[in-house]
Amino acid sequence: MSISPFAKIYLAGHRGLVGSALLNKLQEAGYRNLFLRTSKELDLRRQADVEAFFEREKPEYVLLSAAKVGGIMANIAAPAAFFYDNLLIQGNIMHAAYKYGVKKLLFVSSSCAYPRLCPQPMKEEYLLDGKPEPTNETYALAKICGMKMAEAYYQQYGCAFLSLVFPNIYGEGDSFSLTSSHVISALIRKMYEAKINGLPAVEIWGTGSARREFLYVDDAADACLYFMNRLSGGEILNVGAGNDVSIKELAELIKSVVGYEGSLFFSPDKPDGMPQKLLEVSRMRESGWSSKVKLEDGLQKTFHWFANNYHAAVKDR
Ligand SMILES: NC(=O)c1ccc[n+]([C@@H]2O[C@H](COP(=O)([O-])OP(=O)(O)OC[C@H]3O[C@@H](n4cnc5c(N)ncnc54)[C@H](OP(=O)(O)O)[C@@H]3O)[C@@H](O)[C@H]2O)c1
Repeated sequence: MSISPFAKIYLAGHRGLVGSALLNKLQEAGYRNLFLRTSKELDLRRQADVEAFFEREKPEYVLLSAAKVGGIMANIAAPAAFFYDNLLIQGNIMHAAYKYGVKKLLFVSSSCAYPRLCPQPMKEEYLLDGKPEPTNETYALAKICGMKMAEAYYQQYGCAFLSLVFPNIYGEGDSFSLTSSHVISALIRKMYEAKINGLPAVEIWGTGSARREFLYVDDAADACLYFMNRLSGGEILNVGAGNDVSIKELAELIKSVVGYEGSLFFSPDKPDGMPQKLLEVSRMRESGWSSKVKLEDGLQKTFHWFANNYHAAVKDR
C-alpha cells in the first residue's frame, strides 16, 4: 500500500548524502508532513531525547539514513566511534519506533556488512557467513546489528521494519573532506586539485585491483521510496547497480571526467579493503526496480557539482 502524501514521515539524517537526496525525492513526490532534525537539534545517540521526540511528534513512517559514515581512513582512525554511534543511533530509533507504533521503518544498510571473502556477487543469504573486512569491521558489525535488529522486531513484535543493502553511493552533496571522503569523492578532489595546481601525478591508495560497485545517490533515494511503498517488513534486500569496476578503471574514468592530464600511480602498501564487493540483485529486479544512472553520467554530475561548490564541498563535516 502506498504511503499517503499526508503521512507523518521522520527522515533521520536529512542533511547527509543519501538523506538530502531522499528529502528531494519525498518533496518531489508531494510529501509535506516531514519531520527533520539535525544532529545538533536531536543527537540520536541519546535515548531519552529520541524517545521524547517520538512521543511528541508520533511519526508514522521512519526513513533511517542517519549514521556515522566514512571512507577507509576514517574507519581505521575511529573504530570505536563507528561502533558506538551506529549501534546507538539505530538502536534508539528502532526501539522508539516500536514503542510509539511507527507503521513502517526503512533501515539504510551497506554492502560493507558482507564477509570480506564473500562469494561474488553477494546474495542476501551470505550475510554472517564469514568475518567482516578488518578495515571497517566495527561499521560492518553495526550494520549487521541494525539489519538483525529490524528483523528481530519484525519477528517478535510484528514491526514492519525493513533493510535495504546498498553498495558505495556517490553524487552531489557527498563529503569531499580529506579525512572522511569515500573513493569517488576523494579521487575527484585529488585530480581536480592536481589539475588546477599543475601537479604531474596523483597517488591512489592500494593496488587498483579491488573491484567496487557504485550507485548514484538519486537512484538510491528512488529505491528507498519505491521499496518503502512496496515491502511489508522483515526483508533484507540488496539494491545495487548490478555491475562493478576496478579502482584502476574508476580512476581512469574520473581522470577523463575531471580533464586531468597528469599520471596516476598506485600505492600497494596502502590497504585495498575487500577484494571485491558486488551485490547480487535478482530479487531487486524481480521486484520491478533497477538503477537508471550510468556510472559515467553520475560521475559527470558529481564532478560538476563539486567544481561549482568547491569551497563548501571540501570543508570537514
Ligand atoms: N555513502 C555511502 O557510500 C553509503 C553506502 C551504503 C550505505 N550507506 C548508508 O546510508 C546511510 C546514509 O549515509 P550517508 O552517506 O548519507 O552519510 P552522511 O552523508 O555522512 O550523513 C549522515 C547523516 O547522519 C546524521 N547523523 C550522524 N550522527 C548523528 C547523530 N549522532 N544524531 C543525529 N544525526 C546524526 C548526520 O546529521 P547532521 O548532518 O545533522 O550532522 C548526517 O545527516 C547510512 O546508514 C550509511 O550506512 C551509505
